[in-house]
Amino acid sequence: MSTHPESAPTPQEPTHPGGATPERAGETGPTRITVGTGTGQGGEQLGYDVLVGHGLLARLPEMVGPHAERVLVIHPRALRATGDVVREDLENAGYRAVVAEIPDAEEGKHIQVAAFCWQVLGQNSFTRSDAVVSVGGGAVTDAAGFVAATWLRGVRVVHMPTTLLGMVDAAVGGKTGINTAEGKNLVGAFHQPAGVLADLDTLLTLPRNELVTGLAEVVKCGFVADERILEIVEEAPDQASNPHSPRLRELIERAIAVKARIVGRDPGESGDREALNYGHTLAHAVELAERYQWRHGAAVSVGMVFAAELARSMGRLDDATVDRHHRILSSLGLPTTYRDDRWNQLLEGIRRDKKNRGDRLRFVLLSGVGQPATVEIPDASILYATYQEIAAAPETGAIQL
Ligand code: GLY
Repeated sequence: MSTHPESAPTPQEPTHPGGATPERAGETGPTRITVGTGTGQGGEQLGYDVLVGHGLLARLPEMVGPHAERVLVIHPRALRATGDVVREDLENAGYRAVVAEIPDAEEGKHIQVAAFCWQVLGQNSFTRSDAVVSVGGGAVTDAAGFVAATWLRGVRVVHMPTTLLGMVDAAVGGKTGINTAEGKNLVGAFHQPAGVLADLDTLLTLPRNELVTGLAEVVKCGFVADERILEIVEEAPDQASNPHSPRLRELIERAIAVKARIVGRDPGESGDREALNYGHTLAHAVELAERYQWRHGAAVSVGMVFAAELARSMGRLDDATVDRHHRILSSLGLPTTYRDDRWNQLLEGIRRDKKNRGDRLRFVLLSGVGQPATVEIPDASILYATYQEIAAAPETGAIQL
């Protein structure tokens, strides 16, 4: 994240209802992608903006808005210095800013962490017009969003994602949640942010495996809705994971625009939004089997290959598109196989998926690029047969990313 608010550009970005196509204000200016979330009681358009660019910290006050007096900045331990800069900047802008430092990664999504944040909010007399700002990766976005969704039944939250996964997925779309002993994200709420600042400067210091695994969600957006994403990766896979490359910026903007379009149509995931779960049914099962030691994007990569192979087995998807999954994901260094001795654990995980209805297993499958549908699986035996297509001996199986 940039700690240089004075270098932030301040052009007027064109607005794009529904995030159809992101537009830039200039070569170095930020891109504004609008996420529409329906119409208000007076018929007005509701929604929020995602800004993508460099040095965006100076844009935070406009997203927090003029009505808040107090702002809680929630950040993980690893981003203490950045959290302090954000707090100081908010103080300079006239807010009373308080910091809540939470544990890193999934440890931050514990009910006791939420309770700690509620305590800070209560002790500092936060009212309904006050706001929360999250600074961090997807886990922080989820936890801070949940705290904002539940405090006084909902206060404004602005996300400042600092990872690729956070930018293209977790920070956009309003899913918030915490984990319980029984599983990830079982408790949560839909709570759309007031705005998102995706500062590309944060990617310059992101560990390479974080960047590469975040690309799995970008590729997912390509397969479900934007073939140009796939072409950009195919043209230059090494540029896709280069934080200095304009191609990575274009991939990020396109992935956010895909998410904005889909979330705009179905914010509460009662239909179209399930497409964003492409590859996630097996991915969640792999994460569970690996006790969450695999990065989410690595599991999503394997999950997409599994879904493509399943669609082929069911006669829904052509060989070329299945091969394209293998080729694109491998070219990025993402895993496309999984160890061959874990089927029972995987099936148990698949059965717990949120898309299932009663005993009926459901997967998001493609019938072509940009053509996702949620499909009921008639018989679990086809899943086992498909597993053979992606299984590899543990020692030669997918690398842990
Ligand atoms: N990560 C999928 C969604 O936000 O719907």
